[in-house]
Amino acid sequence: MDKEITVGPSLLAADFSMLKDEIKRAEEAKADFLHCDIMDGHFVPNISFGPSIVKDIRKNTELTLDVHLMIEDAQKYLNAFIDAGSDIITVHIETLKEPRKILEDIKCAGLKAGISLNPETSADSLKDVLDIADMILIMTVHPGFGGQSFIKDCLPKIEKIREMFDGDLEVDGGINYETAQLAVKAGINMVIAGTHLFSSHDMKKDIENIKCLKR
Ligand code: DX5
Ligand code: ZN
Repeated sequence: MDKEITVGPSLLAADFSMLKDEIKRAEEAKADFLHCDIMDGHFVPNISFGPSIVKDIRKNTELTLDVHLMIEDAQKYLNAFIDAGSDIITVHIETLKEPRKILEDIKCAGLKAGISLNPETSADSLKDVLDIADMILIMTVHPGFGGQSFIKDCLPKIEKIREMFDGDLEVDGGINYETAQLAVKAGINMVIAGTHLFSSHDMKKDIENIKCLKR
């Protein structure tokens, strides 16, 4: 049976000077989860925010916090993000010497463990972790910045990963209504959107429209 489509606004596109209001806006728009992008200026050419901000976000919402670590040394900072109140932690396969260990550590802490891959990384790179990951996050832009265009060449990879994996499949980067439709048709069930939702005049309607997409 097809999985329900869930939608998570990416807070990277929110106005951080009024983060509490932006979180409330996402809640009122019936977001299913909130996506938090953590960037270290090494793995990606940008810096965002760290565990103390995740902790502040946690204080202001009961929504699932989906924390996307785009950082070189995820193992080093893992406990800080667990303690901050993350519900899902996703790490990048490109950064990991021992991917199974960190996924096990995340699961042992009672969280859901996600693994992510960049547009140029092949589906085969995930073969050793398919039995342990709860979720796979497929990047459809080069990680580091919001507001980029969806890379359509990633669609066959989404289809391939869907054939290999029964768990949650999440798409991240360049998502609007049209690109969400393409991603859902390819097998995605969790949709992240930053710019599209936070620049919307009717976030509730835009979330609802994506949730109603059919495969
Ligand atoms: C990019 C981040 C994305 C980003 C998506 O590196 O991982 O989560 O916030 O932003 P949009 O939806 O604007 O492409
Ligand atoms: Zn992200």
